[in-house]
Amino acid sequence: MIYAAHQEGTMPRERWSSRIGFLLAGIGSAVGLGNIWRFPYIVGQNGGGAFLIPYLISILLLGIPLMILEFAVGRHFRGSTVSSLKRIRNELKWIGVIVTIVSTVILSYYLVITGWTLAFFIFMLSGTELVFGEFIQTYFSPLFFVIVVFMTSFIVAKGIRRGIERTSTIMVPALMGLLAVMVVYALTLPKAVDGISFYLTPDFSRLLDYSVWIAALGQAFFSLSVGSGILLTYGSYLDERVSLESNSGIIALSDSLISFISGLVVFSIVFSFNFEPAAGPSLAFATLPLIFMKVPYGFLLADVFYLLLFFAALTSAISMLEVGVAVLVDETSMSRLKAASLLSVIILVLGFPAALSYSRIGLQLLNTPVLDLMDRLFGSLAIIFTALLISVSSTWFCPKRTIVNQINKNTKCNLGAIIFFLLKYIIPLALFFVLVSSIIGYA
Ligand code: ALA
Repeated sequence: MIYAAHQEGTMPRERWSSRIGFLLAGIGSAVGLGNIWRFPYIVGQNGGGAFLIPYLISILLLGIPLMILEFAVGRHFRGSTVSSLKRIRNELKWIGVIVTIVSTVILSYYLVITGWTLAFFIFMLSGTELVFGEFIQTYFSPLFFVIVVFMTSFIVAKGIRRGIERTSTIMVPALMGLLAVMVVYALTLPKAVDGISFYLTPDFSRLLDYSVWIAALGQAFFSLSVGSGILLTYGSYLDERVSLESNSGIIALSDSLISFISGLVVFSIVFSFNFEPAAGPSLAFATLPLIFMKVPYGFLLADVFYLLLFFAALTSAISMLEVGVAVLVDETSMSRLKAASLLSVIILVLGFPAALSYSRIGLQLLNTPVLDLMDRLFGSLAIIFTALLISVSSTWFCPKRTIVNQINKNTKCNLGAIIFFLLKYIIPLALFFVLVSSIIGYA
C-alpha cells in the first residue's frame, strides 16, 4: 500500500529537487566530526592499518544494509521516524520516539563541538592564537554553542530544498575542496611518510581484541549516520526513481574515503612537527593549533582546517535536527519554524552541561566530563541499540515484500532478498552481541 496518499495535513510532502541534491545531503550528513576529528585517533588507538579490516567489514555487512533499510522504510511510508514506524504498527511509534530522543541528545553535545570549530575558525581568521585549555575555560564555548544551535535551526526551518539541500550543495563540495588543499600540504611535508606509516602499519594482534571490533562498529555507525533515524527521515523525501543500493554505496564510499584521507592529513602533519600522535580526542583542538602556530602561513592553514571541520559538522547537525523537526511537523500541526525553534530550546537545555564540562565549572558525572559521558552513552551505545530496534521493527513487523520491493526498485542487482535476510537475522544478532559486550565492558 502506498502511504503517500494517507499523509496527514494538507501540504504535500517536500521532495529533494534532484538525485544529486539528495546525494550531497546524504554525504553531508555522513561526513562530519566523526570523519575528521574522531576517525584518525580511533585508528591510532586501535591497531593502525589493521583497524581498517573490522571497519570495512562493519560498513559493508552492517552499515550499508541498515542505510538501505532506513531509506526504504522512509520512502515507502513517507513519514518521520514516529509516523513511518506507526504506519507499520501503532505500538512501534514508541521506537520512533526513542530514536528521536537519542538523535536529539547526540545533537546537543555534537553542537558544542561544532561551536568549537566555528570559534577556532573565527579566532584564527582574526590572527588570535588559541590554546584549547585556555579557550575552553572561557565562556566562548557556551556562546558559540548558542550561535551554532541558532544557525542549525535557521537552516532546517527553511525546509528540505531551500534549507538542507541548498546548504549541503554548497558546503559538501566546498569541504571536499578544502580537504584537497590540506592533503596537498600534508603529503608534501618532510616526514609525511613517517606519519603515514604510523597510521597504516597494521598491528594484526589487535584484531584478537573484541573491543577493537566494537570500536570499529561504533565508528562505522556514527560516521554513516545509521541508527539515528536520519536516513529514514531523508528517505521520506526521496523520489521513487532513485536507486537505494547504488546511492547508499556512493554515500558510504565517499564517507569512508574522506575518513581515510583525513587520517593521512592529520598524521602527516603531527609527525612532521614531532608532536604526540596518540593524543586522543584532543588531537584536532589541542595538538593541531600548536602546530599551526609554528608553521609558515599557519593561520591560513588553520582556517582551511577549521572551516572544513565546521562545514562537515554543520551539514551533519542539520540532518540530526531534521529527525525531530519531521516528527513534530508530521505528528502535530506545528510549522517547521515552530518545530525547529522548540527543539532548539530543548537542545540548548540538554547541551549546556556538555558545553560547561571543560569550563572552569568542570561539570562531571561519574568522574567523567559530561560531554565525554554523553558521547559514550549516546554516540556509541544508544546508537547501536536504536539501530537494533529499527532493524527488528522494520523486518519482523513489516511485510518482507514491502521492503524487498523498495530495495529492488530501479536497480540491476536485485539484492533486496539477501539484504532483507541480513537485516532480519544476522544484523540484529550481531548488534545484540555487540550491545551486551559493550555494556559489560563499560560496567
Ligand atoms: N555522521 C556524522 C559524523 O560522522 C554524525 O560526524
